[in-house]
Amino acid sequence: MATSTSSSKSVGPDYRPEIQKPTATVSTAIPHKNVHTLSQTPQLIALLTMIRSKETQRADFIFYSNRIIRLLVEEGLNHLPVVSHTITTPVGREYAGVRFQGKICGVSIMRAGEAMEQGLRDCCRSVRIGKILIQRDEETSLPKLFYDKLPEDIAERWVLLLDPMFATGGSATMAVDVLLSRGVPEDRILFLNLIASPEGIDGFAKKFPKLRVVTAFIDQGLDEKNYIVPGLGDFGDRFYTM
Ligand code: URA
Repeated sequence: MATSTSSSKSVGPDYRPEIQKPTATVSTAIPHKNVHTLSQTPQLIALLTMIRSKETQRADFIFYSNRIIRLLVEEGLNHLPVVSHTITTPVGREYAGVRFQGKICGVSIMRAGEAMEQGLRDCCRSVRIGKILIQRDEETSLPKLFYDKLPEDIAERWVLLLDPMFATGGSATMAVDVLLSRGVPEDRILFLNLIASPEGIDGFAKKFPKLRVVTAFIDQGLDEKNYIVPGLGDFGDRFYTM
């Protein structure tokens, strides 16, 4: 079982004196420029507290997970490049703005990643979404690609890869290899994730230094069954069945 030291921070609005703020566990720091952790705001910590609790029932789990997914997608979109775009307003004045440089698509790692598709659709109208199914091979115990369905022009798009839980990183690594084999440049991949293990994300960030990871939280580590700790249990089971 691997664990790293977690940090505590007083959490609450800036106008409150420190003594009136509760202390909470916040994301573990990680020294990789290509890994971006969401700001550990009181809102994010409260949302994560809801989905981590074993007392939280399915309807609330879905609701609060969707809130975090929305924050991840909104932040992820800030990592895509933009170009100048000047428009004319209805009062005849010009506004010097920007627009996204290229086309995007989502790719979910089934089944848990599919839970993040709606959050992406809510932010990006008519977005194309592909799917990848990777499962453990019974004989070798290694991750194996079982199915993929990706937009035919994926090599020309920016890809938002979706998977809520990043444990050992076996599936995400294989998913990135699939994208690279279809001609997607590494620096056009953005991986969106709710909770990651420090050892998984460290290896992933080193293996793929040009892609970017946006995660809500880097946890303490993995247990002997490769569950993230403290984690939230099995995301797919809690979102789809429990
Ligand atoms: N997948 C999950 O759903 N939870 C974990 O803790 C690890 C992988």
